[in-house]
Amino acid sequence: MDKFVIQGGARLEGQIATSGAKNSALPALAACLLTEEPVKLMRIPRVRDIRTMEKLLNHTGAQVDIQGGQVLVTSGRVARPEAPYDLVKTMRASSLVLGPLVARTGRARVSMPGGCAIGSRPINLHVAALELLGAQVTQSHGYVEAVAPDGLRGATVTFDRITVTGTEDVLMAAVLARGDTIIENAAREPEVGDLADLLAKMGAKIEGAGSSTIRVQGVGRLHGATHTIIADRIEAGTFLCAGAMTGGDLLITGCIPEHLRALIGKLQHAGADISEEPPDALRVRGGKLRAVDMTTEEYPGFATDLQAQYMSAMTQAEGISFITETIFENRFMHAQELMRMGANIRIEGRQAVVAGRTELTGSPVIASDLRASASLVLAALVARGETVIDRVYHIDRGYEKIETKLAQAGASIQRVT
Ligand code: EPZ
Repeated sequence: MDKFVIQGGARLEGQIATSGAKNSALPALAACLLTEEPVKLMRIPRVRDIRTMEKLLNHTGAQVDIQGGQVLVTSGRVARPEAPYDLVKTMRASSLVLGPLVARTGRARVSMPGGCAIGSRPINLHVAALELLGAQVTQSHGYVEAVAPDGLRGATVTFDRITVTGTEDVLMAAVLARGDTIIENAAREPEVGDLADLLAKMGAKIEGAGSSTIRVQGVGRLHGATHTIIADRIEAGTFLCAGAMTGGDLLITGCIPEHLRALIGKLQHAGADISEEPPDALRVRGGKLRAVDMTTEEYPGFATDLQAQYMSAMTQAEGISFITETIFENRFMHAQELMRMGANIRIEGRQAVVAGRTELTGSPVIASDLRASASLVLAALVARGETVIDRVYHIDRGYEKIETKLAQAGASIQRVT
């Protein structure tokens, strides 16, 4: 298993380029199942979760041609409308093929995702939404089986809690349903809007994506398209935190500042100097940071996927900060590892109380989930001495060449196998 060896203390200077968004590329790849024609996706990040989704598409019978960040998917015939356990167990987002498979073939057999480090991660809301569109869903032997022998029909779906992939799943089912669908309490994440843009290019009729109410007019079939994935706001936000913590002067290029308003506001309030450099860059110059409370919320609130990285930054801020995680039930694993590096953090249920500023010291630590691992990299960048992070495959799930990007901005970080 690969490890990262990081010598702390370097300021980050220069430029870092943002990759395409993993959480937009995943539903976009699943959407390719909705047509037998070729779909070309650009700016696909080469990360583990994407490779898992590509294997999943292959398993269904689709042809997947990968040229760097460009992926051409042709789902000419769906031989196996299923997502097997050995693929789903490594990536919960495999449930994104549920809606497209039922819409395209009238049936789907998808392994239940099983929990992961940050929580139980059920897909009950996905299932309930598909049942409203006329799918009959049973669950047995760890699999969800959905059938819609006479196709799906439009309905009004009201999510009783906001779910990002739940919204994406039912959106992809609705585009081929007979009649109109209204999705209420829909997720407003930019990745939902990006998926809707792709589906519209494929011939779908969608209004309101990005708002809480999405209207879909079902069509008979979709055709091929070419689409470039939006920038990864979580990767860009991770580098913003890195720049703020290391006191450097970092330009993050190829990002969408509009998607990072909540984080930018918090870091500016904490004392970081962040400016937009149109059309698609953010500049961050660190300085002395002050503690600022934060609560995660669905978009456009502060992203839960940036909570761990923000906690790392608050260990370097003067004062007490209260960080509240409202989306997942167990998303503070990084706190234990940060404490081993010298951070002063107290966990009280959904709230973490961080007392800064504490000097962190390099230590051997273990990555747990994707974003927790990113927060350990950030902490290691400012820690005194050497940090070795084990199980970096967690990081490789969602960050493209993070060590290369950080090293070329001045960090002392190496991957050792
Ligand atoms: C998406 O996961 C992202 N993944 C996650 O990013 C992100 O943390 C999350 O949204 C929240 O923003 C992708 O887009 C591939 P949810 P998702 O459904 O859709 C509960 C990363 O680091 N829930 O919005 O799975 C759920 O347990 C990953 O890139 C149900 O109870 O998240 C959670 O508490 C991690 N039943 C809450 O809703 C359901 O059927 C929000 O989950 C679905 C969800």
